[in-house]
Amino acid sequence: MNIKLTQTLPKTHTQKILKKEAKSKDAACLVVLVDDKKNILAESVLSDYQMRIEQLIEVSHFNGKACETVADYALAGDKKTTKQNPVQLLLVGVGSLDKLSQSGLQKIANTIYQSTQKRVDSITVALDDALEDNQFGQFALNLLAASYRFDKYKSEQKTPVLTDIYLLADKSLQETLAFAQAVFAGQSLTRDVANEPGNICFPAYMAEQAQELAKTYPDLLNVTVLGEDEMSALGMDCFLAVAQGSTKEGKLVLMEYQGKSAFSANANNASNATNSAKATGGLKALADKLPTKKASKKASKNSDTNTDVANDDAPIVLVGKGVTFDSGGISIKPGAAMDEMKFDMGGSASVLGTIKALCEARLPINVVGALACAENMPSGDATRPGDIVKAMNGKSVEILNTDAEGRLVLADTLCYVQRYQPKTIIDVATLTGACVVALGHVRSAVFSNDEDVLFDLENASNLSGDLIWHMPMDDEYQAQLDSPIADMQNIGGKGAGSVTAACFLSRFVEEGQAWAHLDIAGTAWNSGKDKAATGRPVPLFMQYLKNSVNMA
Ligand code: BES
Ligand code: MN
Ligand code: ZN
Repeated sequence: MNIKLTQTLPKTHTQKILKKEAKSKDAACLVVLVDDKKNILAESVLSDYQMRIEQLIEVSHFNGKACETVADYALAGDKKTTKQNPVQLLLVGVGSLDKLSQSGLQKIANTIYQSTQKRVDSITVALDDALEDNQFGQFALNLLAASYRFDKYKSEQKTPVLTDIYLLADKSLQETLAFAQAVFAGQSLTRDVANEPGNICFPAYMAEQAQELAKTYPDLLNVTVLGEDEMSALGMDCFLAVAQGSTKEGKLVLMEYQGKSAFSANANNASNATNSAKATGGLKALADKLPTKKASKKASKNSDTNTDVANDDAPIVLVGKGVTFDSGGISIKPGAAMDEMKFDMGGSASVLGTIKALCEARLPINVVGALACAENMPSGDATRPGDIVKAMNGKSVEILNTDAEGRLVLADTLCYVQRYQPKTIIDVATLTGACVVALGHVRSAVFSNDEDVLFDLENASNLSGDLIWHMPMDDEYQAQLDSPIADMQNIGGKGAGSVTAACFLSRFVEEGQAWAHLDIAGTAWNSGKDKAATGRPVPLFMQYLKNSVNMA
């Protein structure tokens, strides 16, 4: 789908041409937004069409309620009304603009796309300055996202007629539009990968996707993949306990996006800047040289004497749960809707997509994406309930339920990524059914040990409309994880399931390390007949990362 800004209304044809050679080809549609007081949005730029719009409102009893539509196909129209502007016209209600929420905006964008995609080649949506910058960005992203389809497994693909979207609005919005396009590119990759079934998308497939990206953006991205032998050498036995029941090898995929060295304002020698990631061997090589235990995180935060990683260049690390299929393992899940557990890698798919979006937007920051990929299967080699394993940080875990596997792959990955001395770590996971019970499909849950990170994430949530809700993590919940035989058990028993999962993860984050955990169990995909990946929380992450640049 092409999307562009324009400052001109679609071309009008003369009645004569239409009569002679009216073809469906090059059919255009002007989309006009009208509020519930029947105010025509962007009215000042629509004078050529004003009469026709007003008449259409009048004759169709159009009220401007959110997502109400009325179309005038013009070709069959009355001469008087169509003589001047025989271009298809679609009125779309927006309700009350002041009360327009993100989901309201999304529904309007969907309505516009669905009502035109089969009928015209291009649409021009008249916006002028009706939307604020931020709403404009969300609207553009929603229009693009509405065009997403995953039909590669259908023997017949229905190609839409619509190929071009023009947004009639000020040139100054170009940057906002370009950012929305970058987010869309990343979000579409997230959806593509997450929609793949488990027989196609297993850990090695995730690694390949990351490596493909590194080939496309060699100046920005380094990818390293750790297999089971390497993880075993590092002592990541919690991770391996999940992977061992499957014939598919577990993979820890490290994606190092180095936008800071490549794009910072003072790196004006382009070739130098471009190669600096390679020359230093990338962040991972650096991470490998670092001691496993940080000397003092607090010290490095508050002084510039830290010589390992200049604080400014310290990466933000995104960690994604990448369970490519979650059968539950020996603690096997019930059969109903078990197929949806192919989406259990939605966290790592969103990290992969965010890295792609970063490469497209070329944000001047360093970000590491870590995809913790494993398949959770029952077999003769699978972990048994009651098995005890050690995590990379030396803590022992009694695995009481093999279906609480996400926290196990994440625990070791959290241990590992702290070698980067990150500014912040954010992990993202389809972690608990309890989160779906608590928040449903509207908001993702956020847990954090750091007020600033929480504030920034909530701010990004409001700006992007990719909503989150702050959940508690009081020490009092930790006791639910006590084990009589090991340092902890992997389930917290009855009550507060998503909180105890977060508490479990917190035990693998060192003192002083800023960290947040997002549980996207309810938001990563839509269930039932329309089951499909949503691409969340890529918009949230991109807003958060963009804001972090502006603050620096
Ligand atoms: N992947 C699931 C969580 C999940 C469930 C996501 C439903 C989306 C929809 C996770 O691995 C899991 O099985 N969690 C268990 C934990 C329990 C055994 C403590 C759960 O939530 O039931
Ligand atoms: Mn599970
Ligand atoms: Zn799972």
